[in-house]
Amino acid sequence: MSEHTVSPRSPADLRGVAVVGSGRALPRTRVSNDDLSALVDTSDDWIRSRTGIGARRLAGPGESVTTMATEAARAALNHAGWDADQLDLIILATSSPDDLFGTAPRVQAALGAHQAVAFDLTAACSGFLFALVTAAQYIRAGSMCRALVIGADQLSRWVDWTDRRTCVLFGDGAGAVVLEACAPDRDDLLAFRLRSDGSRQACLTLAHRERLRDVQGGFTTEEGGFHPIAMNGQEVYKFAVREVPIVLAQVLRDADLEARQVDWLLLHQANQRILDAVAERFSVAPERVLSNLESYGNTSAATIPLMLDEAVRDGRVQPGHLLATSGFGAGLSWGAAVLRWSGPPPSGSATAEPPST
Ligand code: ACO
Repeated sequence: MSEHTVSPRSPADLRGVAVVGSGRALPRTRVSNDDLSALVDTSDDWIRSRTGIGARRLAGPGESVTTMATEAARAALNHAGWDADQLDLIILATSSPDDLFGTAPRVQAALGAHQAVAFDLTAACSGFLFALVTAAQYIRAGSMCRALVIGADQLSRWVDWTDRRTCVLFGDGAGAVVLEACAPDRDDLLAFRLRSDGSRQACLTLAHRERLRDVQGGFTTEEGGFHPIAMNGQEVYKFAVREVPIVLAQVLRDADLEARQVDWLLLHQANQRILDAVAERFSVAPERVLSNLESYGNTSAATIPLMLDEAVRDGRVQPGHLLATSGFGAGLSWGAAVLRWSGPPPSGSATAEPPST
């Protein structure tokens, strides 16, 4: 058992947040659009033209949120050159935990991060961004020095595989970044805004299934269980193309930047048409928009760190580059941030991505 000892408060000259490493992990099984056409009434052409998705990875036996999150975390720690026991904090953003009481402690144990406090955070596809900002606040407050932020989801658990409107969209995976206290004038989180609107929650749900159970002794309780994912795709689409540009414009203004000064647009990977619409709104050229939808689909809380790590490792994102990022999804929840990448330059080192089967 680990006992968290609160780190000594960091001095006021170390209240900035540096983003110093990243990692990712994907399950082995690759499922193509054609594979799904054998399952539901759909086609590769429909899925590609409406979403940009060509395939997705799905977790199989022996793979879970814990295993994917742990692999992504290990890769991020190695990238930064850290030992797990240097961590003060682990936040796991997930909506598909292995244990509703918390999956982050399992990851903490698997990593051997004995000094870290670990907890889950749920904000659907905005989860990674919300977790990143939360971890940054601990560092800025001076109570933590080193944090690991993971986005990991296994929505294949909660997809209705007979519903062609949703089952083609989602994949499983994990991504992670590590954050370190640094001088305030080197702070890599240049601006952020987070938003929620529960009045539109019904657009996208993974809701508790109401089923009553009579308990001997004369009282009635509800039984645990959830409905599969249900989505009003058109409403979610309209929400994203309306709100994401607004919140991105706000963070760019907060950071005193124009869109043309940002190196990369890194949006939650939900739909290529959403990425294209937002890029057009900010006159960002397609080659500056990061997208891996073709390979992995929507991996929920994992999309942003997974995409970041891919672009860091292949050399597109270089130390000092600025990224405008936005997460959006169920809740409804959304937000944006301007980030600088301060991690190591690409080394060509292997990632935690296994070959597909
Ligand atoms: N294959 C073939 N036809 C399909 C499929 C499919 N996989 N899915 C839906 N259709 C059909 C519909 O049944 C409908 O047929 P009908 O006209 O005969 O009724 C027709 O295609 C059009 O359906 P729409 O829902 O209007 O299709 P749309 O162009 O809106 O595309 C999509 C659907 C891709 C889901 C789009 O609305 C979208 O991407 N929305 C945003 C989704 C999103 O971003 N989700 C984020 C989730 S993040 C989180 O927090 C988990």
